[in-house]
Amino acid sequence: MTKVKKAVIPAAGLGTRVLPASKAMPKEMLTIVDKPAIQYIVEEAVESGIEDILIITNRGKTVIEDHFDRSFELESKLLSSKKEKAYEEIKKISQMANIYYIRQKETKGLGHAVYCAKSFVGDDPFAVLYGDDIIINKNNKPACLQLCEAYDKYNLGVVGIKEVSDEQILSYSSLKVSKIEDKIYKVLDMIEKPTPDKVLSNFSILGRCVLDKNIFDLLENLPAGKNGEIQLTDAMAAITKTTGMIGVNYDGIRYDIGNKLEILKAIVEIGLDHVEIGKEFNNYLKNKFL
Ligand code: UTP
Repeated sequence: MTKVKKAVIPAAGLGTRVLPASKAMPKEMLTIVDKPAIQYIVEEAVESGIEDILIITNRGKTVIEDHFDRSFELESKLLSSKKEKAYEEIKKISQMANIYYIRQKETKGLGHAVYCAKSFVGDDPFAVLYGDDIIINKNNKPACLQLCEAYDKYNLGVVGIKEVSDEQILSYSSLKVSKIEDKIYKVLDMIEKPTPDKVLSNFSILGRCVLDKNIFDLLENLPAGKNGEIQLTDAMAAITKTTGMIGVNYDGIRYDIGNKLEILKAIVEIGLDHVEIGKEFNNYLKNKFL
């Protein structure tokens, strides 16, 4: 297993792209078939060997803490009504990992959210799993583990990367890369939300990275970047210019739960594979649309 044992899940964004759903309900808690989005992310971390998870929250997100807590009344009701399977499932959620919480007091951007993890991280390497990015890799290594293994191998910070369209790259980050081996790249530079003349390639950071404490010195004095936010990409860009970073074009399908169309894709594709309702859902779609 990997030496990366800690993870940070920033989940303090305002979710303005999925309003009104995210007005009172954090987008990280939106239901994807039968689980809130953030549970898929915690499960991916746990399956990657992560033991301690810090979730960055803010006002209005206490429902995330409730979800990963014990629920004694519900558990005893399930037991007394002989719903053992549901009981086990519910209890398991509260035992998956050591989960800690800290509030980002102002929504100043992803870089600022990650900075809130400084004392939790200490001297250890840590994975960052963006709270609105579900990555599914059926029957294979979780994306987070693929990145942690690259961290172990190269001893450099790692970003999860994928190629996106010319249009998408303008609202994501763009990376300058050179190939090292299959699916592994050296990252030599990066820019957040480039204008068309500043695009470095169609490779973008999507949803996951592995960092160490060096990032905090860079984040500490970082001025606000694109959209007036403290951008994690700007701090990582400084690392790419010194030691460089590693890019892993991970296996897995990523769904951005901060985007309405991607929420629907996640529900349909995860629903089709669901053990209980997958077959019936498949038949429903065929009868209705074919
Ligand atoms: P996003 O930019 O996708 O989230 O950040 P957002 O700000 O909620 O998006 P909009 O409003 O729809 O454009 C990526 C991740 O970083 C977290 C978000 O919760 C999301 O999981 N984040 C973002 C923070 O924790 N704090 C912030 O200040 C900004």
